[in-house]
Amino acid sequence: MLDRSTNHPPLPPEIARRRTFAIISHPDAGKTTLTEKFLLYGGAIQMAGQVRAKGEARRTRSDFMKMEQDRGISVSASAMSFPFRDWWFNLVDTPGHSDFSEDTYRTLTAVDAAVMVIDGAKGVESQTRKLFEVCRLRDLPILTFCNKMDREARDTFEIIDEIQQELQLDVCPASWPIGMGRDFLGCYDMLNDRLELMDRADRNRRAESVKMEGLDDPRMADHVPADLLEKLREEVEMARELLPAFDHQAMLDGNLSPIWFGSAINSFGVQELMAGIGAYGPEPEIRPAASREVGAWEAPVTGFVFKVQANMDPKHRDRVAFVRLCSGHFERGMKLLHVRSGKPMAISNPVLFLAADREIAEDAWAGDIIGIPNHGQLRIGDALTEGEALRFTGIPSFAPELLQTVRSGDPMKAKHLEKALLQFAEEGASKVFKPNIGSGFIVGVVGPLQFDVLASRIEQEYGLPVRFEPTQFTSARWISGPKDKIEAFVKANKGHMAEDHDGDPVYMTRLQWDIDRVERDFPELRLSATKEMM
Ligand code: G4P
Repeated sequence: MLDRSTNHPPLPPEIARRRTFAIISHPDAGKTTLTEKFLLYGGAIQMAGQVRAKGEARRTRSDFMKMEQDRGISVSASAMSFPFRDWWFNLVDTPGHSDFSEDTYRTLTAVDAAVMVIDGAKGVESQTRKLFEVCRLRDLPILTFCNKMDREARDTFEIIDEIQQELQLDVCPASWPIGMGRDFLGCYDMLNDRLELMDRADRNRRAESVKMEGLDDPRMADHVPADLLEKLREEVEMARELLPAFDHQAMLDGNLSPIWFGSAINSFGVQELMAGIGAYGPEPEIRPAASREVGAWEAPVTGFVFKVQANMDPKHRDRVAFVRLCSGHFERGMKLLHVRSGKPMAISNPVLFLAADREIAEDAWAGDIIGIPNHGQLRIGDALTEGEALRFTGIPSFAPELLQTVRSGDPMKAKHLEKALLQFAEEGASKVFKPNIGSGFIVGVVGPLQFDVLASRIEQEYGLPVRFEPTQFTSARWISGPKDKIEAFVKANKGHMAEDHDGDPVYMTRLQWDIDRVERDFPELRLSATKEMM
């Protein structure tokens, strides 16, 4: 577990004001709408509706994106940076569809906190739960936003109770809703004693925000009808008795989540949530590396690649490596050591993701996400430093759950196919295994939709029609252990062996029984369903 205590040198102010986070939610809970409102209050867009409109305009330019649209999912992840009050927010988008959970997992390695959006009528849903589990693995601090309070929602205690029970997470109300559905008036801000009222006529402004001397302040009655006020007082009293109080350290440790209630579409509750992220969300965190931990206060620049994406812009057929800066002050033109190859790399055209547009970054600080266009040198897990041979840890690659053989429509183009498959493996979009016996490749993915996406990309980007066909194998495991033992094992199991894109040995089988047998018969060897990317 990381040392999240405050017992370290102070951060330079530019770093201390950074908040780098992701939104996790079940599809339809309101992530897109909330993101849009974040950008609106961050001054990054002028009008709500632009994110979606922009998304659609972009999609029509590319058939690949069109496929996503047809499927109603968003495959691509990106980052958005914007100011809010004294803070600088970096919002990293997580792909929502469960087929892309590996991608999501790695995205979550790049952030310091997560905002969990739930639908007030639906509570904790399957995808919320899955994503939350990923956050829990890293003890990520979670801030919760209970959305759609302008519709019939569940009872407030019931929602909080469900989160506490289902996610085993303490929840503390940061605000308390007043009425719901058609009668939803607004919220009482429990952390700052303010009455916040929603404007139903204008979706982009708040009706009123009044400082109160607690709930017994006589002015409350000027704004809230007697029946609702009585209910509010009762509920808040009960909440203060029954629910945990806000504890900043418990939140930073990932044990307690403050919850705000609101309505993203009405822009209601959004600014309070943003202020909460600013005030309580963690500053750029310490990052684990193989030999030591890297603090954001350290002067030399360090960072790691957590995502590689092709085709960000159909006009430039480049790839962009998304780098989370872990320490230092980065300036354009800097020469950084690409640790894996040992070669220096001049970062001359880094990209900052200001709202929805790419912009050349002149400088960036620890906590920021920058994009580095490249032609394939940068892979997921790669470290960039000012000279130290660091290797950041905790960026895993998962064994695929589905394996298929890929066949090209044109056997003369085997080399092209190999190149395409390697590119996707390096992007982290799929796994590719070359069996030790026979020709051809086996491709592994986490969700079945990825096969369709791959086939479509190979055809579009390499002009190569391909088919995916079932293989005899259903599981793949990486093998580690003493070299001679691995060699002996590989020799004895040739028909089951393959190499991944790094040349590491992989054992493939269709039976869990086989995996158990290997573990029993070869106790010096370890079969593993994950591999650290580096
Ligand atoms: P997602 O990214 O999590 O999938 O959700 P998204 O923001 O796209 O929202 C899903 C639907 O819920 C949208 O309706 C959106 O307008 C609606 N919504 C979001 N926030 C609120 C809220 O606070 N209150 C209410 N009542 N609805 C909300 P849609 O009909 O699917 O799309 P659209 O036609 O509105 O664009």
